[in-house]
Amino acid sequence: MIRVFGVLMKISIIGSGDVGSHAAHEIAGRQIADEIVLLDIVDGLPQGRALDIRNYCPTIESETMMIGTNSYSDTKNSDIVVIVAGNARKAGMGSRDELLETNKNIVRSVTESVVNYSPNALIMVVTNPVDVMTYVAYKVSGFEKNRVFGMAGVLDTARLKCFIADKADCSLRDIETIVMGSHGEGMVPVFSKTKIRHRSVSEFLTGKDMEEVTTKTRQAGKNIVELTGKSGLFAPGGAIAKMIEIIINDTREILPCSAYLEGEYGLTDICICVPVVLGRNGIENIVEFELDEKERAMFDKCAEGIKASIRKLTGPGEDRTENAVKMGDDIDIEDNGELEGSSSDDEAITKIRADIAKIEQDLIIKSKGDVGKQSQPPIEEGSSSPRNPKKLLS
Ligand SMILES: NC(=O)c1ccc[n+]([C@@H]2O[C@H](COP(=O)([O-])OP(=O)(O)OC[C@H]3O[C@@H](n4cnc5c(N)ncnc54)[C@H](O)[C@@H]3O)[C@@H](O)[C@H]2O)c1
Repeated sequence: MIRVFGVLMKISIIGSGDVGSHAAHEIAGRQIADEIVLLDIVDGLPQGRALDIRNYCPTIESETMMIGTNSYSDTKNSDIVVIVAGNARKAGMGSRDELLETNKNIVRSVTESVVNYSPNALIMVVTNPVDVMTYVAYKVSGFEKNRVFGMAGVLDTARLKCFIADKADCSLRDIETIVMGSHGEGMVPVFSKTKIRHRSVSEFLTGKDMEEVTTKTRQAGKNIVELTGKSGLFAPGGAIAKMIEIIINDTREILPCSAYLEGEYGLTDICICVPVVLGRNGIENIVEFELDEKERAMFDKCAEGIKASIRKLTGPGEDRTENAVKMGDDIDIEDNGELEGSSSDDEAITKIRADIAKIEQDLIIKSKGDVGKQSQPPIEEGSSSPRNPKKLLS
């Protein structure tokens, strides 16, 4: 059993459905936590899942204690809380944005309870649409921005790696890549930073190949829903466990996470998937990659889409304080001009999706000549050493 700084690690997972229980199973299997609490509103479900996973522990010699509950008091003083409660995408449903309103209400009430019982926890949001839900959790919690982040980029990057490996006929271990942007149609596979065996991806894949792997990555979640009737569970569970392992072991790896931005990438007051250094304090640092022109354009369109979704969710209105949000009011975001008012936001989102498709097409056409020319940029200038997170996060 790993003890971090001599402290017992307690992980709570709110939502014991497919993804929540698979995450618990993965975390128990990795033997990185002392105690995992599974919570759900459905009576019996978390208790049954916890019992099943606990019974699995002896087969892998894991000492992880499992608790299944319907009461937040059992989550008290958790170190990390994963929010994966809410509705999932179903067959026939369009984008993840269709889950917006229902899941906002769930994430808001879950976050309030989490904050009451675990005021010092890190919060990892998984509920979709994840970037918007991370924003909701961040605003409702009142926590520092490093302590609230969203999981999707690790999953999308894993999916991208699989499709690249299949296409390039290489080992997954030989691939270095990252997906940024949003967890949806607007996700941005960053081919300009993608390497296979330390060489540019364009030495292995044609522009058409890259187009194909991009489409497969974007549609992986949808395809799983269509094939099984439910969303993916093994890969998301593994991605959650991987992030928790990195946090607990404080290994400070660069991973894509939905993070609250305050000027990074020229964006403010938004949660969007960007590369971050992940460690014991959550987001230790946001890493600013220099994207190529097309990737940058796609990323900006993604950001517009997320902003429009947030605005659609909350409606236009006066800017309210975080305290008002904590009291349970609807969340408002600053009005940033371009996409004013919820009535126009559907059109705006549709237009953004069309723009992203066009940018992507242009990117693919140009990609053969363009990708791989940029060198890997260092961690953003002026940042402190990863061992001095306080300064980075202030
Ligand atoms: N970010 C990602 O990469 C990613 C990947 C997969 C799934 N997801 C999202 O994760 C969420 C869960 O997916 P799933 O497949 O596990 O769904 P699921 O339906 O199997 O499980 C959801 C669980 O949440 C519970 N729940 C609902 N409201 C609750 C509340 N207020 N408090 C506590 N529990 C509550 C339900 O009872 C249910 O057991 C969905 O929103 C899905 O879209 C995100």
